[in-house]
Amino acid sequence: MTRRRPIAPFSGQPLVSPLQQSVVYRSDTPDALDAMYEGDDAAFVYSREGHPNAQHVASMIDAMEGCSGGIIAPSGMAAVTLAILGSVQTGDHVLGSEQLYGRSLKLLKEELPRLGIPTSFFDPTDIKSVEAALSPETKAILVEVVANPSLRVADMDGLAALTKERGITLIVDNTFTTPLGFRPLERGADIVLHSVTKLLSGHSDAMLGWVAAKDPEVNARLETMAITMGMTAAPFDCWLAERGLLSFELRHSRTQSNAAALAQALSEMSQVRRVLYPGRPDHPDHYRAAHLLGENMGAMVSFEIEPDRAVTNAFVEALDVAFAPTLGDITTTLSHPVSSSHRLVAAADREAAGISEGFFRVSVGAEREDQLVEAFRSALVQL
Ligand SMILES: Cc1ncc(COP(=O)(O)O)c(C=O)c1O
Repeated sequence: MTRRRPIAPFSGQPLVSPLQQSVVYRSDTPDALDAMYEGDDAAFVYSREGHPNAQHVASMIDAMEGCSGGIIAPSGMAAVTLAILGSVQTGDHVLGSEQLYGRSLKLLKEELPRLGIPTSFFDPTDIKSVEAALSPETKAILVEVVANPSLRVADMDGLAALTKERGITLIVDNTFTTPLGFRPLERGADIVLHSVTKLLSGHSDAMLGWVAAKDPEVNARLETMAITMGMTAAPFDCWLAERGLLSFELRHSRTQSNAAALAQALSEMSQVRRVLYPGRPDHPDHYRAAHLLGENMGAMVSFEIEPDRAVTNAFVEALDVAFAPTLGDITTTLSHPVSSSHRLVAAADREAAGISEGFFRVSVGAEREDQLVEAFRSALVQL
């Protein structure tokens, strides 16, 4: 058998970050291994405990969020789980926005209570509903700044003031808003997290999460939990995410301007009953969105057509855009909450949230604006 030998040293730095696929790293002696474990942050021993590609992509997101020591997790849901389990223990109470991503809702409704952590829910646009749901045991609140797919905007100032006053950990899932739109740690949050799978990575080929706590002690706890619970990401996903992140700013500005144009075009179509986009003055939270996000109104647009399955099938068939239950890809994707994210939600609850059979959410991509708008126009006129 051929002996494995380290790659020969060479001069010159590669422009592209090398992919370090190795699960384990060699050291010279037991003394050298001790020194690696005990002192050097940039020393790697075993990839579940850290590897160069994770450290590199984490530092890129840290810079965007204005923090340090962020932890790479294998998915956005792993990041949500770490943030919550690192903040509470059995007997504590957790509050969640009633408009969280579906799997986050499932985590709060089913898994946390099973571990002896009761949960309740609040309307993120109404701080009084948060106060009403609080209990003396409430230790953490989980919220998304812009909810999916309603695109309602949470009262982040109210939540920051309330959690500070009561000593509650405020956890913000910043996946939708991105650090270019909102930097939670600067606006009163204690922990911020991302599904990097979505907008930050942007190419639907890497599954990844990121989480960081403002308090270094809490952050260290999250990191230890991630290592112990095996919540470590593969080097290849980190490498892909790094490549996606390099173009994030460009994608962000292009997809946002496309989203504003698409929202305007949809609002002019007689087949469209309503359009939801935080950048439009007719959005219920437009002023709060402007205050929190400035010009960064995001790349998500929701709209409603006739609530009839034959019509929604015909629309999706006629539309030259991928029908796929995701968001954040460089190309535009269309999702239909009733048949995807909200399929397990009771029909009455869906209707109460304004999600009818005719409700769609578009994750707007970076295509040419005129071609994108025309794709929607030509599908709608066929209805
Ligand atoms: C807001 C939000 N948070 C978390 C997640 C979970 O991310 P992942 O699919 O990477 O686990 C998603 C996924 O769509 C999401 O939209």
